[in-house]
Amino acid sequence: MDKQLLGGLSAAEFLRDYWQKQPLLVRNAVPGFSGLLEPAALQALACEDEVQARLIRQTQSGWVLEHGPFKQSSFKPKAKLPWTLLVQELNHHLPSARDLLQQFDFIPYARLDDLMVSYAVPGGGVGAHFDSYDVFLLQGSGQRRWQISAQTDLTLVDGAPLKILQNFVPEQEWVLNPGDLLYLPPCYAHNGVAVDACTTYSIGFRAPSVQEIATQFLVYMQDKLDLPGMYQDADLNWQAHPAEISDAMLDQIAGMIARVTWQRADIADFLGRYLTEPKPHLFFDPPEPPLTQSVFTRRAQKQGVALAPQSLLLWQGATFYLNGEALAAMPDTTIMQQLADKRRLAGAPITAALIATLYPLYLDGYIVLDLADA
Ligand code: SIN
Ligand code: CO
Repeated sequence: MDKQLLGGLSAAEFLRDYWQKQPLLVRNAVPGFSGLLEPAALQALACEDEVQARLIRQTQSGWVLEHGPFKQSSFKPKAKLPWTLLVQELNHHLPSARDLLQQFDFIPYARLDDLMVSYAVPGGGVGAHFDSYDVFLLQGSGQRRWQISAQTDLTLVDGAPLKILQNFVPEQEWVLNPGDLLYLPPCYAHNGVAVDACTTYSIGFRAPSVQEIATQFLVYMQDKLDLPGMYQDADLNWQAHPAEISDAMLDQIAGMIARVTWQRADIADFLGRYLTEPKPHLFFDPPEPPLTQSVFTRRAQKQGVALAPQSLLLWQGATFYLNGEALAAMPDTTIMQQLADKRRLAGAPITAALIATLYPLYLDGYIVLDLADA
């Protein structure tokens, strides 16, 4: 990581003093950065079917939220009212967005969500709010005024289509210029208003709630359970009230439920699958038509391979998880770790044993030939 990104701090210093603790403003964190794509290209992206986009307009009667895909006419000025266009998962659509995201690899991928971009006309914003995410806000083109507050009153406006704080009391404010970066921990109140037409890139890190983890773990365990036996009451006693659930029944059922147990290995397996599970709106593009295995091998050895932009590959212990599934035993763990960390394999020896693993993943559209080197 370039130390300039964190204003001269090393990743370790940033993690110790700021991460999840306090905001950090870095002037000129990414020198020369002025965004990854022009407003017209961003608007065109927001018109595509598979792109997650939202349009937020401030009208006289309050906030209006619309979901994409949009039509070009959606972005025509309406009575000079401010608006913002938000496009999620830019890293799925743009190689330069993937490169930008890679600069933030001092935070584990298990925490990464995506790269979002916003384009706002002067005065545009999404209102004062807080996120349950850690976020790095990187200013692209133009200027945006950020106001932030450590306030604990996080009461939201009732009935608004987006999360808007009822009582926002700014404590600090800055105008961010292209290349400036603002890190905010979760639940930190903030409000960004475009000074002139501007773009802001949000590198977001998810933090699942206990409720979400516990609920999803129980769903996972449901498929893993294999408990023999059934309720038995050969010793049933006559009871005066047939409608009463007896203590004896309750005791036996409690014993059954106490047999639902799990090991750390179950939690690791759940976590690997949960963290790499593709979001429901995502789909993969299997190659059409696919290369034969021998042509794929030749080209992979020459060009290298990369994870498909939507793919998530993590590992725990000796097990690799790709897009919600555990991969069978790996022939070469070090090379797979390289693929997971760098999201590509360039210049690594691609052996026949590795091809036996990679080729089926290529057929699923989970990995691709690395066209960057083509
Ligand atoms: C924006 O870019 O307009 C909003 C980003 C945020 O507040 O999290
Ligand atoms: Co926010």
